[in-house]
Amino acid sequence: MTIKNPLHIGAAYYPEHWPESRWPEDIRLMKEAGLTVTRMAEFAWSSMEPAPGDFKLDWLERAINLCAEAGIQVVLGTPTAAPPAWLMQEAPDSMALEESGLRAQFGNRCHYCVTSPDFHLATQRIASAMAQRFGAHPNVIGWQIDNEFCRPCFCERCRSRFHDLLRERYQTLDNLNARWSTAYWSQTYNNWSQIPFPITGGHNPGLRIEFRHFITRAYRTYQKLQIDCIRPHIPEQVWITHNYMSWFDGFDHYDLSADLDVVSWDWYVGKGHNVHTETDTIHNLTRGMKRKSWWLMETQPGNVNWNDTNNTLNKGEARTMAWQAVAHGAEAVLYWQWRSALGGQEQLHGTLIDQSGRPRPFYDEVKTIAAEFAKTTELLSGATIPAKIALLNDYDSRWSIQWQPHQAKFDYVGTMIHYGRPLSRFNLPFDVLSPDSPIDGYKLIFAPTLLMLDEARVARLEAFVAAGGHLVLTPRTGMKDRYNALLPMRQPGPLTAMAGVEVEEYYALDVPMPVQGEGISGESRIWAERLKVLATDVTVLARYGEANGWLDGQAAITSHPYGKGRVYYVGAALDEAAHEALTRQMLAAVGETPIESPEGVQICALLSAQNIPVQIVINHTRAEQTVQVQAGLKNQLSGTPVDGSLTLPAYGVAVLA
Ligand code: GAL
Repeated sequence: MTIKNPLHIGAAYYPEHWPESRWPEDIRLMKEAGLTVTRMAEFAWSSMEPAPGDFKLDWLERAINLCAEAGIQVVLGTPTAAPPAWLMQEAPDSMALEESGLRAQFGNRCHYCVTSPDFHLATQRIASAMAQRFGAHPNVIGWQIDNEFCRPCFCERCRSRFHDLLRERYQTLDNLNARWSTAYWSQTYNNWSQIPFPITGGHNPGLRIEFRHFITRAYRTYQKLQIDCIRPHIPEQVWITHNYMSWFDGFDHYDLSADLDVVSWDWYVGKGHNVHTETDTIHNLTRGMKRKSWWLMETQPGNVNWNDTNNTLNKGEARTMAWQAVAHGAEAVLYWQWRSALGGQEQLHGTLIDQSGRPRPFYDEVKTIAAEFAKTTELLSGATIPAKIALLNDYDSRWSIQWQPHQAKFDYVGTMIHYGRPLSRFNLPFDVLSPDSPIDGYKLIFAPTLLMLDEARVARLEAFVAAGGHLVLTPRTGMKDRYNALLPMRQPGPLTAMAGVEVEEYYALDVPMPVQGEGISGESRIWAERLKVLATDVTVLARYGEANGWLDGQAAITSHPYGKGRVYYVGAALDEAAHEALTRQMLAAVGETPIESPEGVQICALLSAQNIPVQIVINHTRAEQTVQVQAGLKNQLSGTPVDGSLTLPAYGVAVLA
């Protein structure tokens, strides 16, 4: 039986690094490890087009065919993150300009200008050549566009494209001047061409946010250019993706995801070890991009090479990470990379096969994971995550806060993780979504630091609460419009009537302030907002203790019924324990019960495509752990029945159904 979306395990493979006589041995070793997929070609431009228009794709076809013979499917990457030397020499305009005004240098990667017409032409040529040749190849199951988009370019052409975007968004300079308050410091523009790039910090907040919108658009346009070359040549079931970098903030990922079939991300722990209560949020963020399962396109086979200390993951840790990814919606786990190249910048990065061509110790761990994926693929293919809780993530709000943290430790991503952490600890699945996407159907939504509001966002939140949803607003919510200007009203701006409170003042804290309420005892760190109760049916859940005078005895956390639902305003940036206690209260109010497990052990709920509830239980610790689970289940990995109590060895995993 063919499974529609089987669980894949694989590695990035670069046959162009090796003599062809070696390939059969590589592929034999891949097969022996149980790999089902490889990703190829995403940096192979100079091997596929060694000189302008001189395409050499036969070698790649032979490599794809060898994989096919071994039953290993292929994801092809377009090689545009590594434009070759001849192109940069022939079309120097393809080279990005750095912030300093200097041209980027050849010799690394991602050195291109994303709006360069010459570069676009060269891109279309190589992407079309690949698509024409391999689009219909039955062993190619997906395509990756470029690799980890990242670099902005500061050339004059990009600046004039930026002006185009501004003209579209603002229509008139009067409007732009008004929205950006350019009378401030005499920044008034009377010609579009006067508008600079925000090269160094200290620029107008309106200008800065639009620059990010410009980068987003530039990469989306560039990505679409490639998609348009590939799509006509691939069958319907073959998908197109781009591999994101974790919490990278260079562009709005929701925007780019709109043109993709599947999203993927590259998970590197780098230094240290995986902290699952933090990384759950990023997996959920990735799943929320298209609200469906995703690919873990790269992850570290033990160690990386780019940190100050490139420690290796503990034995068994990568297995728990692979299962954590699957438990949060990954359809595939691919290690980067298969074999250590003898040269190139990444000689010391972890791999499955070392420089001698023989398997590293880590290879055996991959073999174990592959065997487990093979056992469970039928059960888990097409599984979904039944989340009733969501966090809202917004790139605009994030950028704005990043540029004006006001308290150096105020970190948007840290705040998202802070709100996700107790949900992970309580083993409750949650989604991470854009505030510009539908949110109905959830019981409880956290809007951590949703700084920027517009009418559509407000209407969506209002409808959600009116229909019975519970909404949690937090420090710095509802302060600005979508142009990064302050709203001419107190926080939470247009959500004030729903919240039943307004923020009279906000305080960046140099020392924590005590916060006390029923069942909540702790402190507000780094930030505190003084809330003024506006409605008689507001309940004050906690107040500040004796603090800086301004906050003493003032309301810190409130709750207000609205429609059939409820709105919380959390003005305090609570410490972990107090935040956990508050989260418990919020969960109880919507009838969600935390599922207790020992520290470091997580129980992840999934629903199979056949509607069978599945639990993936992962011991992320180095000690044996016993956890209480439902009785009458079977561990699909070991085949043993589970009677309600499950003991897992260090880094043990069970898939219960
Ligand atoms: C990723 C990149 C890979 C490889 C890896 C090393 O960011 O996509 O090509 O360089 O890092 O950790």
